[in-house]
Amino acid sequence: MTSHPFEPPVAGQAAIVTGAGRGIGRAIALRLAADGFNVVVADVQAAQAEAVATEIHGLGRRALALAMDVTSESERQNVIQRTLSELGRFDVLVNNAGIQRTSGPLDVTEAHWDLMMSVNAKSVWFMCQAAMKHMLAQGSGRIVNLASIAGKMASTQNHPVYNVAKAAVIAMTKTFAHTGAVHGVRVNCVCPGVIDTPMMEQIDLEFGRLQNKAPAQIRAERISRIPMGMMGRPEEVADVVAFLAGPDSRYMTGQAINISGGMIMY
Ligand SMILES: NC(=O)c1ccc[n+]([C@@H]2O[C@H](COP(=O)([O-])OP(=O)(O)OC[C@H]3O[C@@H](n4cnc5c(N)ncnc54)[C@H](O)[C@@H]3O)[C@@H](O)[C@H]2O)c1
Repeated sequence: MTSHPFEPPVAGQAAIVTGAGRGIGRAIALRLAADGFNVVVADVQAAQAEAVATEIHGLGRRALALAMDVTSESERQNVIQRTLSELGRFDVLVNNAGIQRTSGPLDVTEAHWDLMMSVNAKSVWFMCQAAMKHMLAQGSGRIVNLASIAGKMASTQNHPVYNVAKAAVIAMTKTFAHTGAVHGVRVNCVCPGVIDTPMMEQIDLEFGRLQNKAPAQIRAERISRIPMGMMGRPEEVADVVAFLAGPDSRYMTGQAINISGGMIMY
Protein backbone atom coordinates (compact mmCIF):
# COMPACT_ATOMS: atom_id res chain seq x y z
CA MET A 1 0.00 0.00 0.00
CA THR A 2 1.55 3.33 -1.04
CA SER A 3 0.64 6.64 0.54
CA HIS A 4 0.27 10.08 -0.97
CA PRO A 5 3.64 11.67 -1.58
CA PHE A 6 5.09 14.26 0.78
CA GLU A 7 8.01 16.34 -0.41
CA PRO A 8 9.68 18.84 1.89
CA PRO A 9 10.48 22.45 0.89
CA VAL A 10 13.59 22.68 -1.27
CA ALA A 11 15.66 25.06 0.87
CA GLY A 12 19.15 23.62 1.31
CA GLN A 13 18.68 20.84 -1.22
CA ALA A 14 21.23 20.32 -4.00
CA ALA A 15 20.57 20.41 -7.74
CA ILE A 16 22.81 19.64 -10.70
CA VAL A 17 22.08 21.56 -13.91
CA THR A 18 24.03 20.46 -16.99
CA GLY A 19 24.75 23.01 -19.72
CA ALA A 20 24.11 25.72 -17.12
CA GLY A 21 26.71 28.15 -18.44
CA ARG A 22 24.32 30.07 -20.68
CA GLY A 23 20.85 30.16 -22.20
CA ILE A 24 18.07 28.06 -20.67
CA GLY A 25 20.45 26.18 -18.34
CA ARG A 26 21.72 29.41 -16.81
CA ALA A 27 18.15 30.62 -16.21
CA ILE A 28 17.27 27.29 -14.58
CA ALA A 29 20.34 27.41 -12.32
CA LEU A 30 19.52 30.96 -11.20
CA ARG A 31 15.83 30.17 -10.64
CA LEU A 32 16.60 27.04 -8.61
CA ALA A 33 19.05 29.07 -6.51
CA ALA A 34 16.39 31.74 -5.97
CA ASP A 35 14.06 28.95 -4.77
CA GLY A 36 16.61 27.83 -2.16
CA PHE A 37 18.66 25.15 -3.88
CA ASN A 38 22.44 24.99 -3.78
CA VAL A 39 23.41 24.42 -7.39
CA VAL A 40 26.09 22.59 -9.34
CA VAL A 41 26.67 24.55 -12.53
CA ALA A 42 28.03 21.94 -14.96
CA ASP A 43 29.10 22.95 -18.44
CA VAL A 44 31.73 22.04 -21.00
CA GLN A 45 32.61 25.77 -21.08
CA ALA A 46 34.44 26.30 -17.78
CA ALA A 47 34.47 30.11 -17.82
CA GLN A 48 30.72 30.29 -18.46
CA ALA A 49 30.06 27.89 -15.58
CA GLU A 50 32.24 29.99 -13.26
CA ALA A 51 30.38 33.16 -14.19
CA VAL A 52 26.98 31.62 -13.41
CA ALA A 53 28.29 30.19 -10.12
CA THR A 54 29.39 33.71 -9.19
CA GLU A 55 25.89 35.01 -9.92
CA ILE A 56 24.46 32.30 -7.64
CA HIS A 57 26.84 33.23 -4.83
CA GLY A 58 25.40 36.72 -5.19
CA LEU A 59 21.98 35.23 -4.37
CA GLY A 60 23.39 33.88 -1.11
CA ARG A 61 23.43 30.21 -2.15
CA ARG A 62 26.24 27.74 -2.53
CA ALA A 63 27.30 26.97 -6.06
CA LEU A 64 29.88 24.67 -7.54
CA ALA A 65 31.13 25.35 -11.07
CA LEU A 66 32.22 22.15 -12.80
CA ALA A 67 33.76 21.87 -16.24
CA MET A 68 32.28 18.65 -17.54
CA ASP A 69 31.38 17.03 -20.82
CA VAL A 70 28.14 15.08 -20.50
CA THR A 71 29.39 12.54 -23.06
CA SER A 72 32.13 11.36 -20.67
CA GLU A 73 31.19 8.48 -18.36
CA SER A 74 33.89 9.40 -15.83
CA GLU A 75 32.81 13.07 -15.82
CA ARG A 76 29.18 12.05 -15.33
CA GLN A 77 30.17 9.99 -12.28
CA ASN A 78 32.44 12.77 -11.04
CA VAL A 79 29.72 15.45 -11.09
CA ILE A 80 27.53 13.34 -8.81
CA GLN A 81 30.40 12.46 -6.47
CA ARG A 82 31.50 16.12 -6.23
CA THR A 83 27.91 17.18 -5.54
CA LEU A 84 27.66 14.72 -2.66
CA SER A 85 31.11 15.49 -1.24
CA GLU A 86 30.90 19.30 -1.55
CA LEU A 87 27.19 20.08 -1.15
CA GLY A 88 26.41 17.09 1.10
CA ARG A 89 23.38 15.85 -0.81
CA PHE A 90 21.87 15.39 -4.27
CA ASP A 91 18.16 15.93 -4.79
CA VAL A 92 17.54 17.22 -8.32
CA LEU A 93 19.10 16.61 -11.74
CA VAL A 94 18.27 18.84 -14.69
CA ASN A 95 19.56 17.37 -17.95
CA ASN A 96 19.73 20.57 -19.99
CA ALA A 97 22.98 20.30 -21.99
CA GLY A 98 22.24 19.91 -25.67
CA ILE A 99 23.52 20.82 -29.09
CA GLN A 100 22.02 21.70 -32.42
CA ARG A 101 23.33 20.83 -35.87
CA THR A 102 21.57 21.14 -39.21
CA SER A 103 21.39 18.71 -42.10
CA GLY A 104 18.82 17.59 -44.63
CA PRO A 105 17.46 14.10 -43.82
CA LEU A 106 19.08 12.60 -46.93
CA ASP A 107 22.46 14.14 -46.10
CA VAL A 108 22.77 12.86 -42.53
CA THR A 109 26.12 11.12 -42.06
CA GLU A 110 26.88 8.54 -39.39
CA ALA A 111 29.18 11.07 -37.73
CA HIS A 112 26.33 13.62 -37.57
CA TRP A 113 23.96 10.96 -36.17
CA ASP A 114 26.49 9.80 -33.57
CA LEU A 115 27.27 13.34 -32.36
CA MET A 116 23.63 14.37 -32.02
CA MET A 117 22.54 11.13 -30.38
CA SER A 118 25.58 11.04 -28.10
CA VAL A 119 25.12 14.53 -26.60
CA ASN A 120 21.34 14.88 -26.79
CA ALA A 121 20.13 11.35 -26.02
CA LYS A 122 22.77 8.86 -24.81
CA SER A 123 24.25 11.29 -22.27
CA VAL A 124 20.80 12.07 -20.91
CA TRP A 125 20.07 8.36 -20.48
CA PHE A 126 23.29 7.70 -18.59
CA MET A 127 23.01 10.85 -16.45
CA CYS A 128 19.49 9.67 -15.51
CA GLN A 129 20.78 6.17 -14.81
CA ALA A 130 23.59 7.40 -12.55
CA ALA A 131 21.26 9.78 -10.70
CA MET A 132 18.53 7.15 -10.37
CA LYS A 133 20.88 4.76 -8.56
CA HIS A 134 21.52 7.40 -5.91
CA MET A 135 17.90 8.63 -5.76
CA LEU A 136 16.36 5.16 -5.52
CA ALA A 137 18.71 4.34 -2.64
CA GLN A 138 17.74 7.52 -0.76
CA GLY A 139 14.04 7.13 -1.60
CA SER A 140 13.65 10.63 -3.06
CA GLY A 141 14.67 12.78 -6.00
CA ARG A 142 13.47 14.57 -9.07
CA ILE A 143 14.85 14.58 -12.60
CA VAL A 144 13.81 17.11 -15.24
CA ASN A 145 14.96 16.58 -18.82
CA LEU A 146 15.05 19.20 -21.58
CA ALA A 147 13.26 17.64 -24.53
CA SER A 148 11.67 19.84 -27.20
CA ILE A 149 8.52 20.22 -29.25
CA ALA A 150 10.82 18.80 -31.98
CA GLY A 151 10.58 15.45 -30.20
CA LYS A 152 6.78 15.44 -30.53
CA MET A 153 6.20 17.02 -33.93
CA ALA A 154 9.56 16.76 -35.80
CA SER A 155 9.17 20.52 -36.19
CA THR A 156 11.49 20.89 -39.20
CA GLN A 157 13.33 18.75 -41.74
CA ASN A 158 16.44 20.87 -41.15
CA HIS A 159 17.51 19.18 -37.92
CA PRO A 160 16.23 15.61 -38.36
CA VAL A 161 18.47 13.86 -35.85
CA TYR A 162 17.74 16.53 -33.22
CA ASN A 163 14.07 15.58 -33.68
CA VAL A 164 14.94 11.91 -33.14
CA ALA A 165 17.11 12.60 -30.10
CA LYS A 166 14.44 14.72 -28.42
CA ALA A 167 11.81 12.02 -29.05
CA ALA A 168 14.21 9.63 -27.31
CA VAL A 169 14.43 12.01 -24.34
CA ILE A 170 10.64 11.95 -24.00
CA ALA A 171 10.64 8.13 -24.12
CA MET A 172 13.45 7.78 -21.59
CA THR A 173 11.69 10.25 -19.28
CA LYS A 174 8.62 7.99 -19.25
CA THR A 175 10.76 4.86 -18.83
CA PHE A 176 12.64 6.19 -15.80
CA ALA A 177 9.40 7.63 -14.41
CA HIS A 178 8.09 4.05 -14.15
CA THR A 179 11.35 2.98 -12.47
CA GLY A 180 11.11 5.65 -9.79
CA ALA A 181 7.37 5.98 -9.31
CA VAL A 182 6.83 3.94 -6.13
CA HIS A 183 10.25 4.89 -4.74
CA GLY A 184 9.74 8.65 -4.33
CA VAL A 185 11.66 9.54 -7.49
CA ARG A 186 9.85 11.59 -10.14
CA VAL A 187 11.05 12.09 -13.71
CA ASN A 188 9.49 14.64 -16.06
CA CYS A 189 10.54 16.60 -19.10
CA VAL A 190 9.75 19.93 -20.70
CA CYS A 191 9.28 20.59 -24.39
CA PRO A 192 10.23 24.19 -25.18
CA GLY A 193 9.22 25.71 -28.51
CA VAL A 194 11.21 28.70 -29.76
CA ILE A 195 13.26 30.22 -26.95
CA ASP A 196 15.57 33.21 -27.38
CA THR A 197 19.04 31.80 -26.60
CA PRO A 198 22.45 31.59 -28.30
CA MET A 199 21.36 28.19 -29.69
CA MET A 200 18.39 29.81 -31.43
CA GLU A 201 20.64 32.51 -32.95
CA GLN A 202 22.85 29.75 -34.36
CA ILE A 203 19.80 27.96 -35.79
CA ASP A 204 18.61 31.17 -37.51
CA LEU A 205 22.06 31.56 -39.10
CA GLU A 206 22.22 27.96 -40.30
CA PHE A 207 18.63 27.79 -41.54
CA GLY A 208 19.29 31.10 -43.35
CA ARG A 209 22.27 29.52 -45.09
CA LEU A 210 20.26 26.41 -46.03
CA GLN A 211 17.31 28.42 -47.35
CA ASN A 212 19.27 31.38 -48.74
CA LYS A 213 17.47 33.86 -46.48
CA ALA A 214 18.62 36.44 -43.94
CA PRO A 215 18.62 35.18 -40.32
CA ALA A 216 16.18 37.99 -39.43
CA GLN A 217 13.73 36.69 -42.04
CA ILE A 218 14.03 33.15 -40.68
CA ARG A 219 13.30 34.51 -37.21
CA ALA A 220 10.28 36.52 -38.39
CA GLU A 221 8.85 33.46 -40.15
CA ARG A 222 9.45 31.38 -37.03
CA ILE A 223 7.62 33.89 -34.82
CA SER A 224 4.71 34.04 -37.28
CA ARG A 225 4.06 30.34 -36.52
CA ILE A 226 3.73 30.90 -32.76
CA PRO A 227 0.10 31.49 -31.69
CA MET A 228 1.14 33.83 -28.86
CA GLY A 229 3.15 35.84 -31.40
CA MET A 230 6.52 35.92 -29.64
CA MET A 231 9.53 33.83 -28.75
CA GLY A 232 9.86 32.47 -25.24
CA ARG A 233 12.50 33.64 -22.79
CA PRO A 234 14.81 31.26 -20.92
CA GLU A 235 13.17 32.32 -17.65
CA GLU A 236 9.82 31.06 -18.91
CA VAL A 237 11.30 27.59 -19.28
CA ALA A 238 13.06 27.86 -15.92
CA ASP A 239 9.77 28.62 -14.14
CA VAL A 240 8.26 25.32 -15.32
CA VAL A 241 11.43 23.36 -14.56
CA ALA A 242 11.43 24.83 -11.03
CA PHE A 243 7.81 23.68 -10.60
CA LEU A 244 8.75 20.15 -11.69
CA ALA A 245 11.82 20.18 -9.41
CA GLY A 246 9.81 21.27 -6.37
CA PRO A 247 7.06 19.84 -4.16
CA ASP A 248 4.11 21.52 -5.94
CA SER A 249 4.38 18.86 -8.70
CA ARG A 250 4.57 15.95 -6.23
CA TYR A 251 1.78 13.94 -7.93
CA MET A 252 3.32 14.31 -11.42
CA THR A 253 5.73 11.95 -13.12
CA GLY A 254 6.42 10.86 -16.69
CA GLN A 255 5.06 14.11 -18.17
CA ALA A 256 6.27 16.07 -21.20
CA ILE A 257 5.12 19.69 -20.69
CA ASN A 258 5.08 22.06 -23.66
CA ILE A 259 6.37 25.61 -23.18
CA SER A 260 5.75 26.90 -26.67
CA GLY A 261 3.34 29.84 -26.72
CA GLY A 262 0.71 27.42 -28.04
CA MET A 263 2.76 26.01 -30.93
CA ILE A 264 1.64 22.52 -30.03
CA MET A 265 -1.21 21.49 -27.80
CA TYR A 266 -0.70 17.75 -27.21
N1 LIG B 1 16.47 27.41 -27.46
C1 LIG B 1 15.38 26.75 -27.80
O1 LIG B 1 14.49 27.27 -28.49
C2 LIG B 1 15.17 25.32 -27.36
C3 LIG B 1 13.97 24.70 -27.71
C4 LIG B 1 13.72 23.40 -27.32
C5 LIG B 1 14.66 22.72 -26.55
N2 LIG B 1 15.84 23.34 -26.21
C6 LIG B 1 16.79 22.57 -25.41
O2 LIG B 1 17.12 23.27 -24.23
C7 LIG B 1 18.46 22.98 -23.84
C8 LIG B 1 19.25 24.28 -23.70
O3 LIG B 1 19.20 24.98 -24.95
P1 LIG B 1 19.77 26.46 -25.13
O4 LIG B 1 18.96 27.07 -26.21
O5 LIG B 1 19.90 27.14 -23.81
O6 LIG B 1 21.22 26.09 -25.73
P2 LIG B 1 22.62 26.89 -25.72
O7 LIG B 1 23.40 26.35 -26.87
O8 LIG B 1 22.36 28.35 -25.67
O9 LIG B 1 23.28 26.41 -24.35
C9 LIG B 1 23.64 25.05 -24.18
C10 LIG B 1 24.70 24.91 -23.10
O10 LIG B 1 25.06 23.52 -23.04
C11 LIG B 1 26.47 23.42 -22.99
N3 LIG B 1 26.89 22.13 -23.56
C12 LIG B 1 26.87 21.77 -24.88
N4 LIG B 1 27.39 20.55 -25.04
C13 LIG B 1 27.76 20.11 -23.80
C14 LIG B 1 28.36 18.93 -23.31
N5 LIG B 1 28.73 17.94 -24.14
N6 LIG B 1 28.58 18.81 -21.98
C15 LIG B 1 28.25 19.81 -21.14
N7 LIG B 1 27.69 20.97 -21.54
C16 LIG B 1 27.44 21.12 -22.86
C17 LIG B 1 26.99 24.60 -23.80
O11 LIG B 1 28.32 24.92 -23.47
C18 LIG B 1 25.98 25.69 -23.42
O12 LIG B 1 26.40 26.40 -22.28
C19 LIG B 1 19.01 22.05 -24.93
O13 LIG B 1 18.87 20.70 -24.52
C20 LIG B 1 18.11 22.34 -26.11
O14 LIG B 1 18.06 21.27 -27.02
C21 LIG B 1 16.10 24.62 -26.60
